[in-house]
Amino acid sequence: MNYHIVTYGCQMNLHESEKIAGILKEAGYTQPSSPEEADIIVFNTCCIRENAENHAFGNIGALKQLKRKKKDLIIAVGGCMVQEEGKAAFLKEKFPFIDILFGTHNLPELKSLIEKKRAQRKAVISVTAERADTEDGVSPVRTSYPNAWVNIMYGCNNFCSYCIVPYVRGRERSRAHGEILREVKGLIGEGYREITLLGQNVDSYRDGDGMTFPTLLDAVASLGGDFRLRFMTSHPKDFSEELVAVMKKHKKICKQLHLPVQAGSNRILKLMNRRYTREKYLGELAYLRQEIPDCEVTTDLIVAFPTETEEEFRETLSLVEEADFSSAFTFIYSPRTGTKAAAMEGRICEETAKDRITRLVELVNRKTREKSAKYVGKTIEILCEGFDEKKKLYLGRDEYGRMGYFRSNRNRVGDFVMLKITEANGISLFGEEV
Ligand code: 5AD
Ligand code: SF4
Repeated sequence: MNYHIVTYGCQMNLHESEKIAGILKEAGYTQPSSPEEADIIVFNTCCIRENAENHAFGNIGALKQLKRKKKDLIIAVGGCMVQEEGKAAFLKEKFPFIDILFGTHNLPELKSLIEKKRAQRKAVISVTAERADTEDGVSPVRTSYPNAWVNIMYGCNNFCSYCIVPYVRGRERSRAHGEILREVKGLIGEGYREITLLGQNVDSYRDGDGMTFPTLLDAVASLGGDFRLRFMTSHPKDFSEELVAVMKKHKKICKQLHLPVQAGSNRILKLMNRRYTREKYLGELAYLRQEIPDCEVTTDLIVAFPTETEEEFRETLSLVEEADFSSAFTFIYSPRTGTKAAAMEGRICEETAKDRITRLVELVNRKTREKSAKYVGKTIEILCEGFDEKKKLYLGRDEYGRMGYFRSNRNRVGDFVMLKITEANGISLFGEEV
């Protein structure tokens, strides 16, 4: 039987969809296919911003016709959006043809939910408020070779005032380090060349034996084999010299840190409940670069948080000038029901928000282009990840996260390749193998 999975959102969700594919395989759906040929279609949703939800609504709605034509097709919707308070009932009402609704905590039940649905006409809904265990007991069908994602912890306790993640992913839970090391060892044995440790907030990792994130990272990086190690996401409030020391100690750990700053104004950072200041953040970058001079930093930025003034927005611009990020993800603030910020006064109008994001994106792009241009003539080592059908070029990333494209007449996916850069275009570098 065939399956089709539609994924929205972050790496966590991409990896969760690999787990969903693993569960579908156990339930007899072994062949990925187009939606038209699928026997089951699963949506793995995101709710971090309103537009993520609107995308999903549009695509779920579009299946009404298909479902009418193909009565046996099962449509399942799961993930963060379904976990939102009252959302499962809302989805059932809006899209009565949905067969299965499952929350973020209910992923391991998916196989039994499918079996239940096969046996009854009525839709099956399972959304529980919390989950204590950390092992899914499923072998993911991995689709990201040569990279493999490994969860180290789930949930978030930080409650940044704009963010819905703590509500839909629950409290922090760390996997036992023994389980993580076992999984990583297995993946290296299978030939994976890049391991990315995933957590909403990796610095909060602490397992039952008291192991912390820097010690876990040290242990993973000490495993034998030819692989690279990445991790995300870090929080500036938890930045530690110990973490930097571990990054510096191991060649295997990529010299790249994703450290979301969100805003450049201390007043806004306080309203966001981020628990650090602009000065502390910039101090951390200075320390990181003193210890690891070639380390690249990427970030997340939000504009038009409630009450943000033009002056305060300019502090975000000036922080971007100062911080020397290699790239940044930029977002317009999106109110999320149930979060503290959603109840704040002082919403910024759409026109101002759009103006701010345009100016920010221009600046970020200019800085990225300037950084990329410096690579022309240099040689970088990339791990080849895939083939770009449009460009007809192989592509991969160097340890700093820069994307490099090159031509080859044989399959290079999974190879470490030395590229002499001949051209830079925005964030992408083009080169020849040397
Ligand atoms: N509005 C806009 N951006 C948000 N993010 C999280 N919540 C919101 C929101 N309500 C952004 C943050 C975070 C990234 C994953 O998404 O920048 O780091
Ligand atoms: Fe959301 Fe903040 Fe937790 Fe990140 S640290 S998931 S932004 S609450």
